[in-house]
Amino acid sequence: MAHQYSLEYAQQLDREDTLHSFRERFYAPYLHGKRTAYFLGNSLGLQPKNTQDEILKIMEGWANFGVEGFFLGSDPWIKYHKHITPLLTNIIGAREEEIVTMNHLTVNLHLLMISFYQPTAKRFKIICEAKAFPSDQYAFHSQVKLHGFDPAEAIVEVYPKTGTDLISTEDILSVIEAHGDTVALVLFSGVNYYTGQAFDMEAITAAAHKAGAYAGFDLAHAAGNIKLRLHDWDVDFAAWCNYKYLNSGPGAIAGAFVHERHLNDEKLPRLEGWWGNNISNRFKMEKTFTSAASAESWSMSTTPIMLLAAHKASLEVFAAAGFDNLLAKSKALSEYLFFTLNHINQPEQKFTIITPQDSNQRGCQVSIAIHENAKAIFDTLMPLGVFADWREPDVIRVAPVPLYNSFEEIFIFADTLQQLLTPDHV
Ligand SMILES: Cc1ncc(COP(=O)(O)O)c(C=O)c1O
Repeated sequence: MAHQYSLEYAQQLDREDTLHSFRERFYAPYLHGKRTAYFLGNSLGLQPKNTQDEILKIMEGWANFGVEGFFLGSDPWIKYHKHITPLLTNIIGAREEEIVTMNHLTVNLHLLMISFYQPTAKRFKIICEAKAFPSDQYAFHSQVKLHGFDPAEAIVEVYPKTGTDLISTEDILSVIEAHGDTVALVLFSGVNYYTGQAFDMEAITAAAHKAGAYAGFDLAHAAGNIKLRLHDWDVDFAAWCNYKYLNSGPGAIAGAFVHERHLNDEKLPRLEGWWGNNISNRFKMEKTFTSAASAESWSMSTTPIMLLAAHKASLEVFAAAGFDNLLAKSKALSEYLFFTLNHINQPEQKFTIITPQDSNQRGCQVSIAIHENAKAIFDTLMPLGVFADWREPDVIRVAPVPLYNSFEEIFIFADTLQQLLTPDHV
């Protein structure tokens, strides 16, 4: 069906959307008494209305039982994480035992690199995308230095071809092949934070394995945003944050994946702590560590139960909507966003959409490079009730997420942008 550029048409799409009412399950910022169009789910997802109740239950357990809340009450904290993993399997494309909820994203990347980046004199390189998220770059640099190598030699970045923003799968695979048996680890994002490009994780993993290297992914912008099948793709490990698309709150507890085939590998180095100990031994306070025989064995410290509660609340909303339904709506929303943007970008091209239009090569985020007055245009959006975000030097990122964004909001964004792009408006 051909789309139309009108408010009435966008509202009609909302009426036909069976997930439309889910937006009422979230708090959203208001401006002048009106709900804003919040397109920042790629940065911090909105607060589900059930989150406070879930956290309150933990507070009550703490008030009523003190430390015994770990073992007493209707939902003892010691098993609380068991609520989480089943809700994540379809989102992450993993088996329950391959998932652990712990720490924060950069910390988890480091912990997993301790296991999966064990360089030798011959095989010591990390292959990654150029302009990876800075925290990842710092992690790569510090890991390489920790092992006594020179980052300039050990870190190989794959660049887009000159004059383009996207990195082709072909280029990634040929760089991996060219570096062959010097590659220890291939570590890409699932979706690049700046361009919104989704990488072909299955092909990258296969190429890494063919070179004799491990393949890991930073799924910060992929988890809850695109279809993942980490287990089937044979990915070795992955880490993600839960505060973006997974709406689990600022500084939310993060997640990690370790493929089943590594779970009982005694030779794989791993930093250990008591929370990774098998539950039956954890409180015996013995000297020997007995691995939990699941990805939980990478967990080290006491789980922050209030953070788990916020995570659980959000995952329950995902489960109620159905992740595959959400992905279908996400595609419809972002396709309408592309349509409206292409509509307002003619006859004169006032911006370039960096993100691939093909929905198989992206999630919901669309990154728009504005040709003139970019920052002034961006600064005017929020006072007009449109929350997007800014990336230097000229990019506005918008992420219409299926749980709480509407087709109407997409129309409002495009229409507002069109007005701001007309000369003398900002
Ligand atoms: C792609 C990517 N990697 C890593 C991080 C850092 O995450 P954290 O601060 O949770 O360690 C972020 C944060 O936004 C990110 O977007």
